[in-house]
Amino acid sequence: MSAKINWTLAALFALTMAANFAVRPDPDVPNIDYLPDMAHSAAYASFSPNPILPEGKTMQPPVPGTLPRGVTPLHFQATPEDALRAGAELKSPLDPEKAKIRGTVVYQNFCTPCHGGSMRGDGAVALHGYPAPPNLKGEKSLKLTEGQMFHILTFGQKKMPSYATQLTPEDRWSVIAYVKSAQSEAEAAPSPAAPSPAAQSTATPPAAAQPQPAQEVKK
Ligand code: HEC
Repeated sequence: MSAKINWTLAALFALTMAANFAVRPDPDVPNIDYLPDMAHSAAYASFSPNPILPEGKTMQPPVPGTLPRGVTPLHFQATPEDALRAGAELKSPLDPEKAKIRGTVVYQNFCTPCHGGSMRGDGAVALHGYPAPPNLKGEKSLKLTEGQMFHILTFGQKKMPSYATQLTPEDRWSVIAYVKSAQSEAEAAPSPAAPSPAAQSTATPPAAAQPQPAQEVKK
């Protein structure tokens, strides 16, 4: 009664075991799930059909009139009238001093290609044939309120594209804080008529040098 291994049977056994894994009627579904702990969820998958919920869908549309968390609705349309209304009604929720630090980075990344580092509309894209944007430190742009700029960044204006998908509302307000601060510096410099006592002593040479390039670019 010596137990001997029949090697032919052992080999056939190994072969049939291997065939359990290798031969599958549906290649996407394994015959044997090894440790299938989390493979089969009891819950419906978001996009799977659903016999219980309305329209047979698992994922339901949001209830009309509701907003996702953290989203502030903007009650303006892409019309010139609404651009003016935005200018009167919209105010930045950010502290301008803090916001312009982030705004500097946003400007360098998103605005310099067209508007240029100097804001005179001489960015690389404009120098290669794209219609040059106006000088953001020019007379017309200086009159834009922060709300109008927010409307421009959100909806675009003529050749200026919308930045609503690239920039969060917070980044839009940050870059506006940066542009506004650069504008007020430009405004303070070339006005020898009403210099502040502090500016008079230090800012005289740049004040004298700056009006010319600013006027050259103005159209
Ligand atoms: C693809 C090039 C391009 C980029 C990038 C771009 N702009 Fe402009 N921008 C323009 C053009 C062109 C105009 C002029 C639109 C018009 O004719 O009214 C303009 C106009 C503006 C105006 C209005 C100026 C005025 O006096 O009416 C503001 C403000 C402005 N851009 C800010 C920005 C800021 C901030 C960024 C970065 C987030 C930016 N732009 C990025 C091309 C660009």
